[in-house]
Amino acid sequence: MEIEPDCSISVNLASGLMSGRRVGEIVRTLADLAGIFADEQARRSMPQEQPVYRVQSYTPVEEGVNGGLFWGVTFLYPGRVGDEYFMTKGHFHTIRNRAEYYVTVNGFGALILMEEDGSTRLDWMMPGTVHYIPGHTAHRVANTGSTTLSFLACWPSDAGHDYGVIAEHGFGGRVMCVNNAPALVPQS
Ligand SMILES: [Fe+2]
Repeated sequence: MEIEPDCSISVNLASGLMSGRRVGEIVRTLADLAGIFADEQARRSMPQEQPVYRVQSYTPVEEGVNGGLFWGVTFLYPGRVGDEYFMTKGHFHTIRNRAEYYVTVNGFGALILMEEDGSTRLDWMMPGTVHYIPGHTAHRVANTGSTTLSFLACWPSDAGHDYGVIAEHGFGGRVMCVNNAPALVPQS
């Protein structure tokens, strides 16, 4: 179903923060991210209510509609679980060929991209970088800086989120702090 676009939606280009009555929001805490980080014992020892990231989204059409676009912003807080930087859950799109744009607003991080064969690479994120995420590519973001990393996103309304493959197999690499610097550490 097509919904009338709401012109009262706005985005603060300095912070990425969206406002408007049709803006939805979710927060992911450490409790929500069980099994995501390499050091599960470290994750369990931290305050479970601690937010790791917050996502605002604007969905002017129903989820699953072919031909529409969604818009969002993610605020990924600085921190680590053991030596691994705070990161998003990561997903493939349910319709695998659907692409997405990310645009970094503030902070520093790594966009972790994985092909369907498991090969994994990084795109470094800094204010102003534009990232085209092709179809058939899982994506996850790690905050490698000491301030909040915020990035805008635009994706097709029928893309969907498939978290299952990632929950089961993870990515082919993790962004860890190695000798005081972020590095992609391959995972077998
Ligand atoms: Fe996505």
